[in-house]
Amino acid sequence: MKIDEQKTFTKPPQSYWMASTPLTTYPTLGEDLKVDVAIIGGGITGISCAYMLNKEGVTTAIIEADRILNGTTGHTTAKITSQHGLIYSKIKNQMSDELARQYAEANESAIRLIENIANDLQIKCDYIPQSAYIYTLQNEYINKISDEAMVASSLGIKSTFLEETPLPFPVKAAVRFDNQAQFHPLQFLLPLANDYINKGGKIFEQSRVVDIEEEGSYIIITKQGKKVTAEKLIIASHYPCYNKPGLYFTRIYPERSYVVAIKARENYPGGMYIAAEESGHSLRNQMSDNGELILVGGEQHKTGQGEDTSKNYEALIDFSNQTFTVEDIPYRWSTQDCMTLDGLPFVGHFTSNTPNMYIATGYGKWGMTNSIASATILKDLIITGKSPWQDVYNPSRLTISASAKNFVVQNINVADQLIKGKLSSLPEHVELKTGEGEIIESNSQRAGAYKDEQGKLHVVDTTCTHMGCELNWNSAEKSWDCPCHGSRFSTDGDIIEGPAVKPLDFHKDVNTIEKLIKEPY
Ligand code: FES
Repeated sequence: MKIDEQKTFTKPPQSYWMASTPLTTYPTLGEDLKVDVAIIGGGITGISCAYMLNKEGVTTAIIEADRILNGTTGHTTAKITSQHGLIYSKIKNQMSDELARQYAEANESAIRLIENIANDLQIKCDYIPQSAYIYTLQNEYINKISDEAMVASSLGIKSTFLEETPLPFPVKAAVRFDNQAQFHPLQFLLPLANDYINKGGKIFEQSRVVDIEEEGSYIIITKQGKKVTAEKLIIASHYPCYNKPGLYFTRIYPERSYVVAIKARENYPGGMYIAAEESGHSLRNQMSDNGELILVGGEQHKTGQGEDTSKNYEALIDFSNQTFTVEDIPYRWSTQDCMTLDGLPFVGHFTSNTPNMYIATGYGKWGMTNSIASATILKDLIITGKSPWQDVYNPSRLTISASAKNFVVQNINVADQLIKGKLSSLPEHVELKTGEGEIIESNSQRAGAYKDEQGKLHVVDTTCTHMGCELNWNSAEKSWDCPCHGSRFSTDGDIIEGPAVKPLDFHKDVNTIEKLIKEPY
C-alpha cells in the first residue's frame, strides 16, 4: 500500500477496542432513584469504583451522558503501566520522596488489581505481561532518563537504564520498567460492568446530567428531568461536568492525541514504548482476528488549537513507515485527555469544603492505572475516610511554583483563544467540498458550515455553550472543538465531549449561509 493511499481515508475513524466489542444498551434513567453513592461518568473510573463500592455493600448508580466506555476509555492505547513519562524524578524533585512513593505504590498496585480482578471473574481480555520503555533519540534526555531509572528503582519499581531497546531503530537511551502489562480495555470492562449489574448495580446511559442541587443530599438531574438522590456524589465524567466550587476549568486543560493501528510485514518486537520527546510517539501491539496490529500513537496538541488535525494522522503514518513496512491501516482513532498543571491527577474530595462530593480527573494520558488507583482511593475515602495515597492525588494540594507558572501560561492561553475567536476576521464566501467544514460570517454572526457526503449543508452557531469561546473545525474527526476547555460538538451541534452540557444552537440563517458557499472548481 503506497503512502499516499494510506493517507486517503475512506472510512471514519474507529477504535479497534470499540470495533471488536458489542455496543451497550443500558437504559436511560426513566424514574427518580435514591442510592448511597451516585457516580457521574461510565468510563473505567466510574465502572471500577462502582464495582468496588458494590462489593462493600454500598448502593450505587452510574449515570452516563452517552454510552459507557465510549469516551477516553474506548480510545486509549490501553497500556497498564506505572511508567508515566519521567514522572517519578519530577515528583521527587518538585514535591517529596513520600509523594513519589505514594504515586508509585498506587499505580503498581493498580496493575496487580487489574490482573487479580480478571483472574477472579475469569475475564478474557488479552491481559499480557509486558515491559514498558521510555526511549529518547536526543542527547538532552539521556541524563533525565538515567535519573528516572534511579528514582523509580529507589521507589521499589523494577527499572533498568538501557542504551538500546528491541525497537527496530537505534535510541540514545531508555528506561525499562518490568512487570507491566497490556490488555483489551473493553473486553475487561464490559464483563466487569455486567458483574456489577448482576450483583445489584445500576447503569443508566444517555442520561446527561444537566444540574446538581444540594439539599442535605445531592440531587442529580438528567436532561430528561429525572433525579437521582444520593448521600455522596462522585464526578468521574473526565472533564468535570460541574464547576461551581473548585474552579477546575482554570486548573485542567484538554489535549487530543492520535493512534493508527497498522498491519506490518515485520513481527512486532514486543514491549510497550513511548518517546520522551515532544512527539510522544508510542507503540504496542495487539492480536486481532486478522492477525497482529501495531498501535502507533502520539502527535498531541491542545483541543481546538493548531492547524489541520488530519495532519496528525499523516504524521503518525510517516513515523510508522519509517519504522515498519506498513501493509494496511485498518483502524485509526483519536482521544482526549485532561492535563493538570503539575502533571498529577485530581482524586479525592471535590474541594476541602465538600466532604461528600468527590472527583477523579486529570490522568494526563495515563488513565489505565490512574483510574484503578482512583477508584481504590475513592472507595477507601468513602468506606474508611482515608487512603494511603490521598496526599499525592489530593485535588486541593498546594500549588507548587512550577505549576503556578503553568497556571498563568494556561489561563492566558484560554483568554487569548476567547479574544482571538471573537476578533478574527472571517471570509464572507468559502469553497466547501463534501466532507469539509468551515467557519463563515453572515450578518456579523459566525456560523459553522459542514457539507456532508451527500452534499447536504449542516450549519450551527459556533459559540461554545460552556463559556462562550468560539469553536474551530476538527477535520480529522469532523467535529466542532472548543479551544478553551475542550468541549466538542457534532456537525449537528450535539455534545461529544463536555464540560458543555447544552448542545449548540442551529444557525438561524441557513439560506443566507448556503448562498455564501461556493462550489469548488
Ligand atoms: Fe469552556 Fe468551550 S469548553 S468555553
